[in-house]
Amino acid sequence: MQVARTVAEVRTWVAQARKAGKRIGLVPTMGALHVGHASLIDAATARCDFVVVTIFVNPTQFGPGEDLETYPRPFEEDAALCLQHGVDVIFAPSPEEMYPLENVTWVTVEKLTDPLCGRSRPGHFRGVTTVCTKLFNIVMPDIAFFGQKDAQQALVIRRMVADLNQPLEIVVCPTVRESDGLAVSSRNRYLDEQQRRDATVLYRALQACQEMIEAGQRNADEIRGAMIGVLREVPALKVEYVSLADAESLEEPVQLQGQILVAIAAHLGPARLIDNFLLDVPDQ
Ligand code: PAJ
Repeated sequence: MQVARTVAEVRTWVAQARKAGKRIGLVPTMGALHVGHASLIDAATARCDFVVVTIFVNPTQFGPGEDLETYPRPFEEDAALCLQHGVDVIFAPSPEEMYPLENVTWVTVEKLTDPLCGRSRPGHFRGVTTVCTKLFNIVMPDIAFFGQKDAQQALVIRRMVADLNQPLEIVVCPTVRESDGLAVSSRNRYLDEQQRRDATVLYRALQACQEMIEAGQRNADEIRGAMIGVLREVPALKVEYVSLADAESLEEPVQLQGQILVAIAAHLGPARLIDNFLLDVPDQ
């Protein structure tokens, strides 16, 4: 396994692999790798012959007052996980390598970035789409792998690639959860023991939604009300949004139908938690 710190280095390694006829897979991450990231790497090694994992805490997707400075950066552990999972190259550039000049060129996806996380994190998705486009241009992968855990991010990236004819395939992998249902996240390490137990309430609220749909409920407000009832079981939880949206447009219908994204964002102590289910709502 190689560790590339510069764009030139990673391009050299990838060019050699491409010349050898290998299919290139890319897994973009911000490090602090866990079993969720590992599942993307495993999906990449299953479908590709040469896997590049990028580890870059991208400053342009953090807002003022967010956790850019405190975001965990355990590089040695990350490298060990990558090695264990058969990664060929880690690309871990410095901010100066990725943004040598003041950045004045941005990739912006409209509409899909307005609701949900876009509302409380203005500029976040512009940072994500810009850095992913840069990573796609640097590595030129055949396939890039993203997690359903960040549902809006996955949707925005898929749409960007389609709208701009970026020449790669996007694969979205299922959310990996702890045994009690909590979605695995680098930010879970901010939680103390009590908060860690309380954090499962997001999963329970999503399950309540699924059960109501299975029982025939189609009214979004009724379901949202019940979900908020579940979330209130943890008084310390500050709910940012509970959204029941069309899975492609992110518009919120009154009566649910087709594929819907049910998504929650909430603050618990120092951590901002997000989770979601993709649900098929059968016609009645
Ligand atoms: P990061 O939060 O490190 O996540 C990297 C990838 O891992 C994302 O595609 C995310 O959806 C996926 N992931 C995280 N937790 C997961 C889980 N429990 N199950 C499955 N997949 C999971 O998302 C980012 O970094 C950044 O925004 C990035 C795309 C790298 C751009 O900077």
